[in-house]
Amino acid sequence: MVEPVPAAQPVCTLCGGEGFTFQQLEDRGVAVACSCTRNCASCHGQGRLYARDERGYEVLRGCGCGADPRRLSLLTGLRLPTKFLNRTLAGYAGISPDQKIALARAHRFVDEFVPGASGQRALLFCGPPGSGKTHLLAAILRDLATKKAVRGRYEEFFLLLSDIRDGFSRGLSSREWLEPVREVDVLAIDEIGKGGKNREFEQGVLDEILSVRYNAGRPTLLATNYPRPDTDHWQFKADGQSAENLEQRVGPRIFSRLHELCDLIDVNGPDQRKDQHDARCIAESLARRTRPARG
Ligand SMILES: Nc1ncnc2c1ncn2[C@@H]1O[C@H](COP(=O)(O)OP(=O)(O)O)[C@@H](O)[C@H]1O
Ligand SMILES: [Mg+2]
Ligand SMILES: [Zn+2]
Ligand SMILES: [Zn+2]
Repeated sequence: MVEPVPAAQPVCTLCGGEGFTFQQLEDRGVAVACSCTRNCASCHGQGRLYARDERGYEVLRGCGCGADPRRLSLLTGLRLPTKFLNRTLAGYAGISPDQKIALARAHRFVDEFVPGASGQRALLFCGPPGSGKTHLLAAILRDLATKKAVRGRYEEFFLLLSDIRDGFSRGLSSREWLEPVREVDVLAIDEIGKGGKNREFEQGVLDEILSVRYNAGRPTLLATNYPRPDTDHWQFKADGQSAENLEQRVGPRIFSRLHELCDLIDVNGPDQRKDQHDARCIAESLARRTRPARG
């Protein structure tokens, strides 16, 4: 006798089956359990289950439905920019060949990441504005949190610098400001190279962060608008400055350090910032562009 196949549950339209949504509270994204988890047959929306560990002891485990408070706090703790709360790898379209490779590398990073293992190679996405680098960083952190319970954190370099300056003015030591960026499993620093006039300070901060994380065996994902020196696919210049490549911008010493720690991945592609807000639009336009002409 063949067991009847149970009818497939319709996918929740609020959370797409992930069991959580982000709510925007001022400039923060807070992950909350989706109302659909109340119907979870295992935890009835509690998010936690009693299970037995290897030694037979009863332990509390997170439920896979999405209501697990620990997972929700990991997601909130990513501190993603509000615009990127719902960006996923599934929603990233490989429009250009570079973007296809970048997307595959992003997936591979998530798949191969082993929580707690040290010495994992990081990624540095280099590409012109609007090619989807922030999207990729946000989506990787989100996937690591939901699939592997990885504690991640997103930081924009320029804002991080101003937090650090604030910290110094309040009397924090560099050890103290470094601690939160050292301790997360995966840190993503967006827009490296973006800074002001004080290059020495900026380079020093980046150097310290990369070093403490390297010594702690934890990878740092990075993104920049500045091209590698050996590419001439695009140019980038900060307001009021002449065009520079990444090596010129961060200095040869840090540049060689970046090479040691990361795979540099070009993300050259069309600027999606202007008119495309959602991956579906992009996927549709891609389909239109690549559909072979009839006749
Ligand atoms: N390949 C892509 N697939 C789907 N969305 C994209 C893609 N590239 C960019 N976007 C979207 O376009 C906007 C700009 O991308 P963003 O990640 O900010 O670019 P960058 O950080 O490289 O300047 C975002 O809303 C992002 O989600
Ligand atoms: Mg960006
Ligand atoms: Zn739902
Ligand atoms: Zn559940």
